[in-house]
Amino acid sequence: MGVFYENYCRRLVVGSLVAPSNALMAPIYGCTNVEFRRVVENFGAGIAFTEMTHVECLLKKKESALECARFDSDEKIKALQLIGGEPDLFRRLVEGSFLEDVDLIDVNMGCAVPDIVRSGRGCALVHDLPRASQIVEACKKSGKAVSVKCRPGMTLKEGRVAEFARMCEESGADMLTVHGRPGEMRHEGPVSYDAIAEAKASVRIPVVGNGGVCTEADAAAMMRETGVDGIMIGRAAVENPEIFGALTGKSEK
Ligand SMILES: Cc1cc2nc3c(=O)[nH]c(=O)nc-3n(C[C@H](O)[C@H](O)[C@H](O)COP(=O)(O)O)c2cc1C
Repeated sequence: MGVFYENYCRRLVVGSLVAPSNALMAPIYGCTNVEFRRVVENFGAGIAFTEMTHVECLLKKKESALECARFDSDEKIKALQLIGGEPDLFRRLVEGSFLEDVDLIDVNMGCAVPDIVRSGRGCALVHDLPRASQIVEACKKSGKAVSVKCRPGMTLKEGRVAEFARMCEESGADMLTVHGRPGEMRHEGPVSYDAIAEAKASVRIPVVGNGGVCTEADAAAMMRETGVDGIMIGRAAVENPEIFGALTGKSEK
């Protein structure tokens, strides 16, 4: 077994939930549907998130949003990712019956698609702490575990990742995932381990590092160099879901 499994693989406590491993499957639009999540879960992924689901679309009961938020009853941790910028809409969603099946609400504060950012959603929220805080607080009213997925900022220079991480913790978040590339870089280029480490050092809630993990050695390096509690894999796991088997020592049932 490899260096991640031997030195870093462990369970991950997220609020009242216990994920069987700290190797997580990232939300990937157009990919992380029920069937895919079952595959990576069988290979040992501790949590596999839905793709981002727009709060407005769920409230309007759009077919595509309802499909995104569909879970199998035996998925271990039903983790729904939401995207939106209006705390009131999150409040309405939480008050309805939309989230009955959900164990963990993950709020997308990292999406850097220009239309999303312009409308104050995704990564824009890293630069709007009061609004981001109200969204986390609204989600917490559900009584479910809540996590946030963010980036260091739109640029590394403007980033205030430590302040943002503390805001998440103070607002009630149970976990924070930091994709270490700033928004302006979207999904390419170097991942700032410094930004991830800064977030980790600023809070007591678990912090998960994301970005550029393609091999067991990358996963171990992320853990070693940033001190994070877990790692999240995106594209490399879409290409090779079996990577979770190597990381967690679990092979598919
Ligand atoms: C095609 C594609 C779709 C994505 N969809 C989402 C999404 O729905 N929600 C989200 O938070 N991030 C999304 N991401 C970002 C990934 O979750 C992840 O943060 C990013 O790919 C970096 O991780 P990686 O280098 O391991 O791929 C997407 C990325 C790609 C390439």
